[in-house]
Amino acid sequence: MKELHFGVDYYPEHWERERWDRDALLMQEMGIQMVRMAEFSWHKLEPREGSYDFGWLDEAIALLGKYGIYTIVGTPTAAPPAWMINKHPEILPVDREGRVRGFGGRHHDCQSNPVYREYIRKLVTKMAQHYGENPYVIGWQPDNELGNSHQELCTCASCRSRFQDWLQKKYGTAEELNRAWGTSFWSQEYNDFSEVYAPRLTVTGENPSAMLDWKRFCSDLIVDFTREQAEIIRKYAKNQFITHNYMGFADKVDYYKLGELLDFVSHDQYPGGFYLPRTPHEENHVLAATLDVVRSYKNQPFWIMEQQSGITGWEIMGRAPEPGQLSAWAMQSIAHGADAVVFFRWRTCAMGTEQYWHGILPHSGNPGRRYRELQDFIQEVDPLMDYMHGSMPRPEVGIVFSFEQEYAFRIQPHHKDLSYTGQVQKYYRALYEKNIPVDFVSEEGDFKKYKILLAPLQYLMSPELEEKYMDYVRQGGHLLLTMRTGVKDRNNLCMTERELPGRLSEVAGIEVLDYDCLRNAEVEVLFHGRKFLANIWSDLMRLLPGAKVLAAYASEFYAGEPCITAHPYGDGICYYVGTEPGEALMEALMDEILSRAEVDSILPPVQGVECMFRENDRERFLFVINHSGQEKCYEAPQGYQMLKGLQAGCLGAYETQILKIEKS
Ligand code: GAL
Ligand code: ZN
Repeated sequence: MKELHFGVDYYPEHWERERWDRDALLMQEMGIQMVRMAEFSWHKLEPREGSYDFGWLDEAIALLGKYGIYTIVGTPTAAPPAWMINKHPEILPVDREGRVRGFGGRHHDCQSNPVYREYIRKLVTKMAQHYGENPYVIGWQPDNELGNSHQELCTCASCRSRFQDWLQKKYGTAEELNRAWGTSFWSQEYNDFSEVYAPRLTVTGENPSAMLDWKRFCSDLIVDFTREQAEIIRKYAKNQFITHNYMGFADKVDYYKLGELLDFVSHDQYPGGFYLPRTPHEENHVLAATLDVVRSYKNQPFWIMEQQSGITGWEIMGRAPEPGQLSAWAMQSIAHGADAVVFFRWRTCAMGTEQYWHGILPHSGNPGRRYRELQDFIQEVDPLMDYMHGSMPRPEVGIVFSFEQEYAFRIQPHHKDLSYTGQVQKYYRALYEKNIPVDFVSEEGDFKKYKILLAPLQYLMSPELEEKYMDYVRQGGHLLLTMRTGVKDRNNLCMTERELPGRLSEVAGIEVLDYDCLRNAEVEVLFHGRKFLANIWSDLMRLLPGAKVLAAYASEFYAGEPCITAHPYGDGICYYVGTEPGEALMEALMDEILSRAEVDSILPPVQGVECMFRENDRERFLFVINHSGQEKCYEAPQGYQMLKGLQAGCLGAYETQILKIEKS
């Protein structure tokens, strides 16, 4: 079978049966090869308890199949029907204020509820038995955007008791739990696991250790919820894949762990935001980072399961994508490692919450400008995707990304403007703007393949991770560590044995003796004789033998003291950044680190033009994407062959060129 690269999210159940043939024909003429269906249609599949009706879906799958279009089946467990909720209201989730959330939206379910799980097992078994060998069904998506709409998930009685079991398994005894959570503070000791609560809104403050375990528990619950479905599907659908539509940096479930259940990861990419104005150029790095982090979750090519195909919006709408912009966004997904792009959605819905979240076709169902643009796009790009099959971006720079660090900073952000993901994206941005491709890598991942490893805010530390960082530098790596590293143990208790950053001071060559949280303030920093600004935080540190000052504070009572340092260790270098560098300082610092590690830009940077590459063992494919509505010029490299585009070096508005370069 030919590799499938392009699809749409399709909801035939929203339209009259008479329309379906025209949809299928229009899809075929456009080059659509697959659809995702059914991920919210529980009631259509089981209108009454125990009475199943798969007829409509069978018919849609067969009809599309006749047009050469394959199906990905979604399990509809994000939308339990009213008959079920009325019979078992305990399925409804309870929020942190103790309020039961009602029926009428979606994801109105508690993922631990045993009654709900039983309904799911029955339906998913029926579906998997029914479609597991259907030749037109190629794969499955359990649920939809797991973790979306769940806020802090559910604090009902079922979740509380499951949390207690989870804790008992982790800690064994109440004494151990009390130690790990530091419960002697404010008399929070437990005599028994059965006394522990799911964290409802308190009168004041929260125990950071308890909250961290709660977040881990919620993530594990989502993984468990998915595993149950995945196991059923695998039993009956031996030759069909399982994937799930992720949401980039969203933090409700540890996507690395969820990925272990999946054949490959998918992601929903909406560059236009929700009701934001059109994404300004300054945000392109966030889009790129989002795609790169998605690639990291399984460290392999991924799919886009929902790619923006029109104006976004529920009650309030975003800007209309300009001609060519949808294609540029889809190209960006491909450049960062997508092997397939499924557009959301086929036709703009006439009813319900998402009437204004626009599809390829408008409400009228008549093909218009978006249809024609994406039709041309698919026709041109599909053969190139076949050609580039098996290629992946292979960056020389890695940035560590960790859900646990994200959880810990959500619980205690330190400063109102500090977020873990935001900080990671600031480092990313400096590289993005220099056309330096980046991989994200988990704490468990392989650091050694990167010449440079940036590890901002390594707040929760463990002896193993310390050792891993030290080893990386010893063996020649260029590591960047920052403020708030090694502050806590994995229970979210403060480390007390040594000055910060704990044992990592050996590799960093500094000790942090004091610090300043820059509330409503900036600090001046002197770097290579130039003054810059930095924000959020100042670490006040002492140099250990061998370390050098790269930059020093130039204001506040610590003017003249080290702010950024470099320390040769083993065959490598460790940089320590005691603050959040402002944009200009970040840029200058990255220049220094890149040149010391001999990492080059893939092309000289041009504002509004993104460069990315994918490669296999023989060839490198260079993507040059114009994210602007104006013509742009760039400096084409030596010895290329044009795969897409006419004249290398000159880009029309929103044009993408792909250049093939033989590897030596
Ligand atoms: C996604 C979701 C879709 C649809 C879309 C537009 O988050 O997976 O089902 O809701 O957003 O709102
Ligand atoms: Zn619950």
